[in-house]
Amino acid sequence: MAAAPLRFEKATVRGFDPRAVRREFPIFTTHPELVFLDSGASAQKPRAVIDGIAEFYRTDYANVHRGVYSLSARATDRFEEAREKARAFLNAADEREIVFLRGATEAINLVAHSWGPACLKAGDEIMISDVEHHSNIVPWQMLCERLGARLVVAPTDATGQFDLAAFEALLSPRTRLVAVTHISNVTGTLLPIARIIELAHATGAKVLVDGCQALPRMPVDVQALGCDFYVFSGHKAYGPTGTGILYGRYDALQSMPPWQTGGGMILSVEYAKTEFQDPPHRFEAGTPDIAGAVGLGLALDFVESLGREAIAEHEQALTGYAVDQLSRIPDVQIAPGGQHQLSIVSFNIDGVHPHDVGTVLDQHGVAVRVGHHCAQPLMEKLGIAGTVRASLGVYNDEEDIDRLAKAVEACREMFVR
Ligand code: ALA
Repeated sequence: MAAAPLRFEKATVRGFDPRAVRREFPIFTTHPELVFLDSGASAQKPRAVIDGIAEFYRTDYANVHRGVYSLSARATDRFEEAREKARAFLNAADEREIVFLRGATEAINLVAHSWGPACLKAGDEIMISDVEHHSNIVPWQMLCERLGARLVVAPTDATGQFDLAAFEALLSPRTRLVAVTHISNVTGTLLPIARIIELAHATGAKVLVDGCQALPRMPVDVQALGCDFYVFSGHKAYGPTGTGILYGRYDALQSMPPWQTGGGMILSVEYAKTEFQDPPHRFEAGTPDIAGAVGLGLALDFVESLGREAIAEHEQALTGYAVDQLSRIPDVQIAPGGQHQLSIVSFNIDGVHPHDVGTVLDQHGVAVRVGHHCAQPLMEKLGIAGTVRASLGVYNDEEDIDRLAKAVEACREMFVR
């Protein structure tokens, strides 16, 4: 792996106080010395979300869209209010474009199982990038196998940058879908999504964006982007586990048959035939995670209260600071994240297994993810088995990065010298 360029000497951002933000997260009261650098896997939860879910269960809980009694009506209002919050957060045109699911993985699988067979045929192509998470590879791979379609992989270059020219050259009238991540969960590369969408649409392809790593830390406007689908997981956005959103343009959702079937998504059922609801309910079979959706809405409120511009600026500065600090340590190799790298820094210490590094960092109170990060094809391309990954959240500051760098130095001393 080539060393990334040095970018920031110090992480300083006007008006953003991560120490104050940190006080909103009870986990840091329980573990005051914890340096949590694994928000890319799952973010910690603010008090507003933890308490808000408990409060919802205490005051407004019942099943939704089913009861005529007032408590059920209140629960339904809270659930639909969360849908509206997600709509506003993404600046979608219509609440009906927001589908509540269990996470981004389920959202991608829904599109692959519903939109895929309805809109693709043998010989068509689906294009992904070479920095995708398994959840944005395997559903398409299996769909291609089922339909006789082809999976095409657009490369990033040696600096970690998405190669737009190569992407453009790979696009063809056969390309029916481009499914790419907004930010790589391994390298932190921010893909040029707006341009990717523009080029894909010019050839008639639809675009799905995996927004898991981007949505909690930068403004996302699906109308301005013009993407057809945008997916994210609630738990990475400071919300509860088991929640996620599929945004789909209404015309795209309307063209899609249901995937999972059961209660809540039907208009009428006879033994001979069933009629389905319009989106989004067509895709929400069974009792949804009602409290989860309410909690996700509270998480989105929390992120909005900090401001995504401010979060992006803060995490951008801190990412640069982390790259700079880690680059100064001999034998540390950073996986290149291109010119625009946000919130994630992956690295290795020469000759030391990432799991050993992670274990030593844990002994220093620093929590990171190690391994292939559900991106084995990318690891193969980089010629490594795995990395140590530090990923940021709104509660991290320069001191956390200093503690990380110190722990990495200690680990190097232990294994290399
Ligand atoms: N997708 C999560 C990660 O990258 C779990 O760590």
